[in-house]
Amino acid sequence: MNYHTDHAALKRFWYPVLPIAQLQDGPKAFTLLDEPLVLWLDQEGKPAATQDRCCHRSAKLSIGQVIEGCIRCPYHGWEFDPQGACVRVPQHPDRPIPSGYRINAYPCQERYGYVWVCLEPPVQDIPEFAEATDPNYRLIPGFWETWQCSSLRLMENTLDIAHIPFVHNQTFGDERSPVPPDYDLIEETDTTVHVRSLSPARNRPLMQKAMGVDEARVVRVRDLTWIMPFTAKLHLTFGNGLISIMVAIASPINARTSQIMTFYLRNDTETPAEDVRAFYDAVAREDKALLEATEAIHQQAFCPIEQQNMNSDKIGLLMRRRFSTLLEQYSLLPQCGN
Ligand code: FES
Ligand SMILES: [Fe+2]
Repeated sequence: MNYHTDHAALKRFWYPVLPIAQLQDGPKAFTLLDEPLVLWLDQEGKPAATQDRCCHRSAKLSIGQVIEGCIRCPYHGWEFDPQGACVRVPQHPDRPIPSGYRINAYPCQERYGYVWVCLEPPVQDIPEFAEATDPNYRLIPGFWETWQCSSLRLMENTLDIAHIPFVHNQTFGDERSPVPPDYDLIEETDTTVHVRSLSPARNRPLMQKAMGVDEARVVRVRDLTWIMPFTAKLHLTFGNGLISIMVAIASPINARTSQIMTFYLRNDTETPAEDVRAFYDAVAREDKALLEATEAIHQQAFCPIEQQNMNSDKIGLLMRRRFSTLLEQYSLLPQCGN
């Protein structure tokens, strides 16, 4: 079975590939779904994305330079514009440039402080979060790092409340209470799932500081929204009126490696951003250690019958069915059991 055939469907979505600030000092490389990209800023400061391979002798453009908004190859100096056309061949200044001198260029834009890229014509827009433009909320940038796990595993993990007592026993879980709470399916579409549960938490010092709650135990209203393919929005409502939202988005580098981007949205002003980050970071360290100990998800694992499951896995399975439908749409899903 081709390990990467599901990429064809996944290429139709937008992914955050780099904080845009990182392009201020020159071009950068990023690999998305096994496709090496070079990213840079054009003359207006807008991001550009093309394949990271010169069409002359295959040199990596990401170690070249940006010249007047174009990327210059480090090998012989050919220059390419953001649409991928070669606009200068310094060895032949007086000859017209053949139209075949070009590289693939990709849709690219800036949002939430990141450069987003889509490798094929997109089937949906970059996710919108109402709170990100609501003046009652502030946006706190989170982390940006590489995890050695499949992007689908990360999504499944956010929908899986049964792991909390075990994986997060040092931050907010309690392994003495392993039975997960019930949840309500609030909304379901072809590309989203929204579930709600009353989620008890052991309130240790990092969480006390981040959430401004002193009690030893708290119950949060936990609204989790998954957005196809790899976006999760975790919306927590506390008894003190605090709403603390974490948005986590995975950009698949390949089938077993993901770049994870997070940011937080809060309706308070007083808690230092560092305290908010410290809590979510500690929780993320626990998830990362566990997720990096799981196997990459093969395309066949999207088929629910290949798995052993328990009651709390229902929502994750719902998400897998949505993926199966997506892959079927592109005629790439193998028969389960093959
Ligand atoms: S390899 Fe790029 S100009 Fe020759
Ligand atoms: Fe977790």
